[in-house]
Amino acid sequence: MNRPAAPGTLTPGTLSPALRSALAASADDRIFYDLAGIARRYTALRDELPGVAVRFAMKACPVDEVLAHLAALGAGFDAASPHEIAQALRTGAPAGRVHYGNTVKSDAGIAEAYRLGIRDFATDSLPDVVAIAEHAPGSRVFCRLATSGEGALWGLSRKFGCSAADAVRVLTAARDAGLTPAGLSVHVGSQQLTSKGWSAAFDLLGDVLVEGRRHGVELDHVNLGGGLPALGYVDRHGTALEPPLDEIFQAVRDGIDRLRRLHGGALDFVLEPGRHLVADQGAIRTHVYRLTSRQQPDGEREHWLYLGCGKFNGLYEMDQVQYRLVFPTHPAPEYVPAVVAGPTCDSDDTFPHGQASGLVPVPRTAASGDPVWILSTGAYAVSYLTQGFNGFDPLPYTVLPADAGLPSPGRQLPEAARQSRICLGDAPVNGEAS
Ligand SMILES: Cc1ncc(COP(=O)(O)O)c(C=O)c1O
Repeated sequence: MNRPAAPGTLTPGTLSPALRSALAASADDRIFYDLAGIARRYTALRDELPGVAVRFAMKACPVDEVLAHLAALGAGFDAASPHEIAQALRTGAPAGRVHYGNTVKSDAGIAEAYRLGIRDFATDSLPDVVAIAEHAPGSRVFCRLATSGEGALWGLSRKFGCSAADAVRVLTAARDAGLTPAGLSVHVGSQQLTSKGWSAAFDLLGDVLVEGRRHGVELDHVNLGGGLPALGYVDRHGTALEPPLDEIFQAVRDGIDRLRRLHGGALDFVLEPGRHLVADQGAIRTHVYRLTSRQQPDGEREHWLYLGCGKFNGLYEMDQVQYRLVFPTHPAPEYVPAVVAGPTCDSDDTFPHGQASGLVPVPRTAASGDPVWILSTGAYAVSYLTQGFNGFDPLPYTVLPADAGLPSPGRQLPEAARQSRICLGDAPVNGEAS
């Protein structure tokens, strides 16, 4: 069995006191978001990268209360569809702080975004430029460059972005079609774990800035996309990921300085963080369905822990990560190594594992109904809920307001059903004390 997450790798941000008490008080399965934690992460990011505009990638957490709070702090939004644009504008954020960041757009979608007041569009191809020129005349476009995605858990390569040579063609075509060729963008891959991934992106951006200028294209900004990591993940083998955040921020600051020097004139920078702002600020309260032990056809006996929550109702990203589990009613248990899986009748609904790898330490006496907390689940959870696949309801959510750690109006916590055996002080996390 692989080692569970090492002690000490849980930063205090992984489970704030507000999240901890909400999880402990919850009698039903739901996801909680800690607004104060999100605000802290936002402020820390602004401090690390002063002067860089933050446009939250809505897809990571399209929850009204979260978006409104970020908008009030000054964030803009990276929206991927007219619906997301409309939701972003409902927060009160001005249209000038929202861009249509998806290179995949229909004519009708472009026209609708334009009608809603959007004037900034991502692009990566000539046909898309032609469509923007027709349905959003005079708008600003930024061209997305393809990256390798190396070093990231989710590479995002090939579906989006074009080569350096194509980018120059796309931007000059935009200018010729009456659009403003305004910028370049990249995405280094989601949960990028290396500073190298960022340095390589800056090298590419520098080359295209210079080449664009040779073709008379003067850009005013660079959009650095998403990719900043969550801090509380455990990889598919059960090892805690420890992204070198300081190194990453240093690479970004160095890259920004380098591009500004290369460019000469004023050059603004935009970031579109998704998971970095919200992942560690969300946690799920679910419960044990059953801990089983079964002999497989090859003779191996395996323990399987089935939870009320899985790939289709909150843990969509279990293709790449094992989430950290806390068994609050088992403070100092004897553990068995188990494969963890969700409740559906679908074999994809299982934490990544191989023979004797990816197994999670689970209290031997875990019983049906025992509460389980799942940490660092704030990103890509509610946006990936199915509409009741196999009859399992989408996971409800509660937002803990920034001021009090109490539920926001209209989304009251269920009656606090204090579990008599909850041990708040030493709830073990994947076998470790938190
Ligand atoms: C265009 C764009 N920007 C930003 C993001 C957010 O990425 P992350 O959650 O890795 O920060 C994504 C995610 O897929 C994206 O497609």
